[in-house]
Amino acid sequence: MYNSKIAGLGYYVPEQVVTNNDLKKYMDTSDEWIRERTGIEERRYAKKHEETTTTMGARAAEIAIERAGIAKEDVDFIVFATLSPDYYFPGCGVLVQRELGITSQEVGALDVRNQCSGFMYALSVADQYVKTGMYKNVLVIGSEMHSMGMDFSTEGRGITVIFGDGAGAAIVQPTEDMSKGILTTKLHADGTYAEKLAFISPGSHGGYHDDKDYGFPDKDTPSDIFVTQKMLDEGLTPHMEGTYVFKMAVQKFPEVIMEALNDQGLNPSDIDLLVPHQANLRISAFVQKRMGLRDDQIWNNIQKYGNTTAASIPIALTEAWENGKIKDGDLVCLAAFGSGFTWGSALIRF
Ligand code: UT7
Repeated sequence: MYNSKIAGLGYYVPEQVVTNNDLKKYMDTSDEWIRERTGIEERRYAKKHEETTTTMGARAAEIAIERAGIAKEDVDFIVFATLSPDYYFPGCGVLVQRELGITSQEVGALDVRNQCSGFMYALSVADQYVKTGMYKNVLVIGSEMHSMGMDFSTEGRGITVIFGDGAGAAIVQPTEDMSKGILTTKLHADGTYAEKLAFISPGSHGGYHDDKDYGFPDKDTPSDIFVTQKMLDEGLTPHMEGTYVFKMAVQKFPEVIMEALNDQGLNPSDIDLLVPHQANLRISAFVQKRMGLRDDQIWNNIQKYGNTTAASIPIALTEAWENGKIKDGDLVCLAAFGSGFTWGSALIRF
């Protein structure tokens, strides 16, 4: 058995900056409301028809690969987390393999669908593969292109103002130094609340979960209809009960961080840097207070990028590292909560 370590980190955010005031062109909102309720000042939107979730993931991956001191061809497994894939299927794992030009290696590519916790799940998978000696250079990516699938009318403002585009990546490698690397990962889910934050249509549900009329043809008629006219008319956009999600988040973040710390016999005061999923600055502030952490023990960048779901942790982690906030021997805690509900944490000794 080995330990696994993060050998290289990278992130990519699109050039186009969209401020809160820019969003006022499309919906009834205000810079004050967005800053006060979420902390967000601006976000990035990808160049439509030129950039995709996959291409952004590839740009972040190239940086992580270079920093890990390996060649693209050395990557022996890919784990790609996103809720906004280029295609419904196949997933972005194979697309990023192609985008990186490493198809001839025929390395496996796994897609993770755990939304805001996607990077935690993906990292945990990579950790297990590396620890057992199965792979030596696992490329883990979290990437999102939300701007292609949101409701820009006033009706959608509660969700649309929060999300942004971007990607982050890590190379996970084995280390024989058992005191370093990924010390533990904790993953959880509770499907009871699946529809509290969900992109429901298109899908194969046919109204099964909520018995709503989505305009599917008569149930006894064989049909391969996946997207109905009614869905299209109502708009294919996400649904979120924000306040409910908020309440669960502030409960589950501290819980899952403490679970990881207890597992390692550590205390909140041992954390050098907490990098929480960037869902809402108020959620991060609550978690910081609950854990008794100083301002220099937490990294937030939601102000600049909004919530980039699966990409938010690797973007924030990379940025913190680039800013010299993570030194050799530091204990870094990652934690996420989101749709599913799913949540998780990781403790990493750099
Ligand atoms: O990352 C995945 C997990 N997601 C989250 O963690 C999100 C968690 N939830 C949140 O961050 C917050 O619930 C939101 C930021 C989404 C919303 O904040 P809130 O304080 O819970 O606001 P609310 O939804 O209760 O809305 C309060 C008011 C409403 O008006 P009335 O009914 O009080 O007149 C909304 O219509 O604010 C209104 N509102 C807006 N006003 C201006 C909602 N969105 C906007 C907006 N601009 N963009």
